[in-house]
Amino acid sequence: MHINGKRFRTIWPDGNDNICIIDQRHLPHNFVIETLTCLDDAITAIQDMLVRGAGLIGATAAFGMYLAIKDMPGHTSPSQLTQAAARLTASRPTARNLGWAVERVLEQVEKAGKGQDTKKVAFATACAIADEDAAFCQQIGRHGLELIAAISKRKEGAPVNILTHCNAGWLAFVDYGSATAPIYAARDAGISIHVWVDETRPWNQGAKLTAWELQQEGIANTLIADNTGGHLMQKGLVDLVIVGSDRTTHTGDVANKIGTYLKALAAHDNNIPFFVALPSSTFDWDLEDGGQIPIEQRSGEELTSISGITREGKLETVRLVAPGTQTINYSFDITPARLISGLITERGIVDASREAIHALFSDKVKNL
Ligand code: MRU
Repeated sequence: MHINGKRFRTIWPDGNDNICIIDQRHLPHNFVIETLTCLDDAITAIQDMLVRGAGLIGATAAFGMYLAIKDMPGHTSPSQLTQAAARLTASRPTARNLGWAVERVLEQVEKAGKGQDTKKVAFATACAIADEDAAFCQQIGRHGLELIAAISKRKEGAPVNILTHCNAGWLAFVDYGSATAPIYAARDAGISIHVWVDETRPWNQGAKLTAWELQQEGIANTLIADNTGGHLMQKGLVDLVIVGSDRTTHTGDVANKIGTYLKALAAHDNNIPFFVALPSSTFDWDLEDGGQIPIEQRSGEELTSISGITREGKLETVRLVAPGTQTINYSFDITPARLISGLITERGIVDASREAIHALFSDKVKNL
């Protein structure tokens, strides 16, 4: 997608054995590109949220495996590989794409076996994961467009109001985004749209990232406080909710940014369609129940302080609360399948139910 009219992906090889990323901690105020040169760089980028969002964490982890292998002297030893994989997988526990990407690189490297250039295999696999992530998001866009087009027709061309939470935009993936892909597709199809952007405390992915990326793409949007969505829904000002997912069980329960569950409850109460957009790499084929999904807890500092830019253009972090304030900072919550109108995947829109998911992805379902 575009930044100041120039096309970017969120991650790319620099042609010199290193990997470039956009450091999202500086957005929207400064555009900073960082270079990852080794496994530790990739782990830090994921842990400290230089990169974030399910798809991008997955792609970064895949390139992280490549960076680890590139630095292994002589043959890649299985124990070194397992250790690198375990460290990457543990760097953020909730997003399934992370473990999925690491396992895919590991599998390809193991399959290649001795004698093959494992560095080449890891690099090719990581590039394939990144390309596939972008392609799947584009397909999600095509399927989600049908939903928006139907609402637009019903409203006789009046703007379709879509509410989204957090950032499941192109910054959360390699390109296009999951929740935003249908929005971009609708824009391209000439449909009038307007997006309500939840600010998404405490990290403010909505305020800092989604509002900015939509603005860069010329999509009409309005930033709202996290607690505003229910009120807008009661007033008839929301036609559709589309959010992303960090992990979705094969039974249809969705882990997404904290606060998603409350939006789903409000949408349900107001009869507003609530859709979740995700590539199949976000499905967890092992977990039966959303309650089993590991929920990341992050530092309380994300709650007690806030950062922004001063009038002089300096980035600063200030404390919001009295010293010693107790905190608990859950990063994600679970929206049960019963509150979800459907899942927008690269293969089409599917009910959030075991039967429907298994029917569409029969090739991926394990013997359950
Ligand atoms: O903590 P983050 O920013 O990595 O969280 C991920 C998210 O941005 C959201 O939960 C998003 O809706 C799903 S990721 C596509």
